[in-house]
This record gives sequence, C-alpha cells and structure tokens, in this order.
Amino acid sequence: MHPLIKNVLLNKEEINKRTNQVALEIEEYYKKIIPNEEPIVLVGFLKGCVPFMGKFLENFSLSCQTEYMLISSYGSNIKSSGKPEILLDLKIPIENRHILIVEDVIDTGITLDFMVDYFKMQKPKSIKIVTMLDKVNSHKVDIKADWKCFDVGDDFLVGMGLDVNERFRNLPYIGVIDTEKLKNWKW
Ligand code: PRP
Repeated sequence: MHPLIKNVLLNKEEINKRTNQVALEIEEYYKKIIPNEEPIVLVGFLKGCVPFMGKFLENFSLSCQTEYMLISSYGSNIKSSGKPEILLDLKIPIENRHILIVEDVIDTGITLDFMVDYFKMQKPKSIKIVTMLDKVNSHKVDIKADWKCFDVGDDFLVGMGLDVNERFRNLPYIGVIDTEKLKNWKW
C-alpha cells in the first residue's frame, strides 16, 4: 500500500456487494414508475464519477443512457466557498426524461445542490441521486441522496475516483490519507 494511505476504509468486496444491493433497489424503484423501456438518463460529473459509474453500470440492467458533465471545482482547499461552474454541459435535452445522478461522494453538497437546481429548470420528469459515499458530517447545504452505498466520516479519502493531487483515483478500494505525511509529501 502507498505510504500516504493510513488504512483501507472500504475494500473492493464491500464496495461491490453494496453497489449491487443499491443498484437492485434502484431498479425496483424505476420498474414501478417506468412501465416501458424508456431509458433513464444516468448523469456523472467528471472526473470522480468514473469508477463508481462503471461499477454501477455493471450492476444495473434497466434501459439507460450515460451522459457526463464537467463541473468546475471551486478551489480544492476552500470547498465551502464559491459557486460551481459548468465547463462541459449535457449534449441532450432532458425535458420529460428521468434523470439519475451518479456521484462518487457528497461532501459539502454544494455541487449537487447547484446541479439539481440547474436540472430542474430544464423540466425533467424526475431527478434522483445515487452516491457511493456520503460525508454526512460535512454537508453545508440541505441535500439528500435518494440512495447511497456508505455513510462516511470526514477523513481525507481516496480511491474509486477520489483523488489527492489527481492521484489515487484508480485504487479499487477507499483508503484514508495520512494528512500528517501529506503536509510534507514530495510528489
Ligand atoms: C468531487 C466529487 C463531487 C464533489 C463533491 O469533485 O466528485 O462531484 O467533489 O463535493 P461537494 O459535495 O463539496 O460539492 P471535484 O470537484 O473534486 O472534482 P473531480 O470529480 O474531478 O475530483
């Protein structure tokens, strides 16, 4: 394991098992409200969403299409201030469509809060949220995921799309960063 990683919080098997359970719950929900083969629009926000979106798709068998957006981060060290900005928008109209946002992590909740308002203006049939991780103690706005795999604390987490300095997104597990070592780390 990399010396910056203190411990594994969630291993690959735990993430696989829970993603499968959550995907099945989501299927059951949509089967009741979508009577035909109408595809659900899954939306991921680059770049962090990629590994969880991949895992979710392996486990989700309803008709869907996948779309991606790029939202500016509002300063990696000052997560609570500023306003997100859309750098790459959807290329499809979402009016009258069922939208499922597939997120890697809710931290302050500011990204999702902003994006849900943005989508609502385009009059979709529904907007739902699934997130792999929810940093429940870090929310700064009132936003709730409809489905989540895991509640987590406010440790500095990496892996499965989460990064520090753009590293570690490819770890197949969720690890906790040693923030003391990180202070003097030479990349
Ligand atoms: C991360 C993550 C979420 C967002 C959550 O993205 O993927 O989209 O932060 O944080 P919030 O709840 O405080 O808004 P980030 O902006 O770090 O970009 P990335 O996806 O490229 O890592």
